[in-house]
Amino acid sequence: MKHRKKMPFTDAVIHECQRFLDVVPLNIFHCTTAMINFRGYTIPKGTVVIPLLHSVLFDKTKWETPHSFNPGHFLDENNCFKMNPAFMPFSAGKRSCVGENLARMKLFLFFSTLLQNFTFSSTDDPANIHISPVAGSFIKLPRLYKLLVKSRA
Ligand code: HEM
Repeated sequence: MKHRKKMPFTDAVIHECQRFLDVVPLNIFHCTTAMINFRGYTIPKGTVVIPLLHSVLFDKTKWETPHSFNPGHFLDENNCFKMNPAFMPFSAGKRSCVGENLARMKLFLFFSTLLQNFTFSSTDDPANIHISPVAGSFIKLPRLYKLLVKSRA
């Protein structure tokens, strides 16, 4: 894990995959436990709130090219890793994902170990590949692809 800081591009690609996949676009529904005022709106107790993560992950005021896969969203001018506060696939606040640190660690270890040990290529012309996810009723999923995987050993 200590190598992650020295691998800004890998880290940026993983973050951009998570942003672009937008796996839980509607987040999990929440409900107000008391009446609250939020940005001038009064929200009564018991109101169902749907905190749209999609709107943050694709906000054109927060991302240079929100609808394109662009690891540059997480790199500064020196190609060092740069976090973006609008990166919130794990949600935010008191009820955000408790597994975030574990998930982020696993994503890095799996992704980097696979790339260290195998070369991946497409059986199809990359120009014909649609990288946008498929939207289900609740979550988005990656499309199915045919891959050629060769051991680097
Ligand atoms: C890439 C992987 C993961 C993503 C994108 C993800 C995303 C989320 C999201 C969006 C929520 C809803 C937060 C909210 O209600 O505002 C959530 C909640 C939760 N996640 Fe994850 N999660 C991931 C992995 C994990 C893992 C590995 C664990 C456990 C080891 C975990 C445990 C939980 C739990 C227990 C909650 C409910 C938290 C609460 O209601 O207080 N998640 N997750």
